[in-house]
Amino acid sequence: TLLDVVINKNLDISGFGACEGTLACSTCHLVFEEDVFDRLEPMVDEEVDMLDLAYGVTKTSRLGCQVT
Ligand code: FES
Repeated sequence: TLLDVVINKNLDISGFGACEGTLACSTCHLVFEEDVFDRLEPMVDEEVDMLDLAYGVTKTSRLGCQVT
């Protein structure tokens, strides 16, 4: 997942991925360009529910811990 990339590359993004990918936080919220978003795997219901709680959600938002 993109959360794995952040962890493995030791990227210093404050607070990103607080729940370690267990769909309990939405701190991994990312906004994609539309053409990239359209190529991602569909969201599961749990991601949709948690994304609803994220700040500044757009129509191309995803949770980075769910994007492979
Ligand atoms: Fe918490 Fe993605 S890391 S929902």
